[in-house]
Amino acid sequence: MVTSGKIGYLEGVAKPIVKWAGGKTRLLKHLVPFATERKMRVYAEPFMGGAALFFRLASMPERRFERAILADQNPELVAAYQAVKKHVDRVLTALQKYADREDRRELYYETRDLSTQKLGDVERAARLIFLNRTGYNGLWRVNSKGKFNVPYGRYLNPKIVDPERLHAASAALALAEIRHVDFLEVSRECAEGDFVYFDPPYVPLSKTATFTAYASQGFGPDDQERLAKEMRRLRDRGVRAMLSNASNAETRRLYEGLETEVVYAPRAINSDPKKRGEVAEVLVRNWKGGAK
Ligand SMILES: C[S@@+](CC[C@H](N)C(=O)[O-])C[C@H]1O[C@@H](n2cnc3c(N)ncnc32)[C@H](O)[C@@H]1O
Repeated sequence: MVTSGKIGYLEGVAKPIVKWAGGKTRLLKHLVPFATERKMRVYAEPFMGGAALFFRLASMPERRFERAILADQNPELVAAYQAVKKHVDRVLTALQKYADREDRRELYYETRDLSTQKLGDVERAARLIFLNRTGYNGLWRVNSKGKFNVPYGRYLNPKIVDPERLHAASAALALAEIRHVDFLEVSRECAEGDFVYFDPPYVPLSKTATFTAYASQGFGPDDQERLAKEMRRLRDRGVRAMLSNASNAETRRLYEGLETEVVYAPRAINSDPKKRGEVAEVLVRNWKGGAK
């Protein structure tokens, strides 16, 4: 159950507030059994993105963690979660201002080109949610200078203001500490009895795959190696860790010797349903034994 001052919002309803490349909603049925095998002290999700697994776990009738640590390298995303956690009503008011404007296409490009440096977290949250709801395919992509560069999406009726979803998310986020750090800073702090779920940018399936450019720094082969080492280090320290990634020869090499299984999920990020198809992902665990 989501416990915070916001009980008025139904338990069990917290869901991602942004559509994110690699979002895990479609894989939850495979992830949840492993993440709930036993109770944990800390639930850590160091590549939070849309944080689908966190929101699901936080909404379960019997909560499986005492507290959560969420992190991401994307500063806009982290600012948005901080604001939704602490000032959800102000975020909703700011979103209403976006929704009230009729020249949505112009507003989109105006907002996209805003420099966020002088904005507070509430404005940054409203900006990110508005762009995410109205941008092409609802994805977040930045260029090499870290500037968001997705074109306008032409949705007929985007839901820009969604009080129920935002309040439910805010109540769930009240259970979490949210940080703008590299994944290692979070996992290094974890101890026996904690659980870490890593959902990094994918090892590319092909040379044309672009989904590794989530943040301006990207996430290269060295980062994938750092992460694979960390999975083993956590195992040696008795910390359960689970990871999802693209299923290909490179991930098989990286995680050889750990528990792996291939699962299938429909690909969401494409406005043309014919181009979505099913994607094979690999789930890696650093402990033996299956889910109940
Ligand atoms: C695949 S997405 C996570 C999707 C998420 N699990 C969901 O359900 O939507 C990967 C995330 O990792 C973040 N990221 C990239 N490099 C990182 C790093 N070194 N440390 C932490 N986060 C990083 C990206 O900004 C992106 O949001």
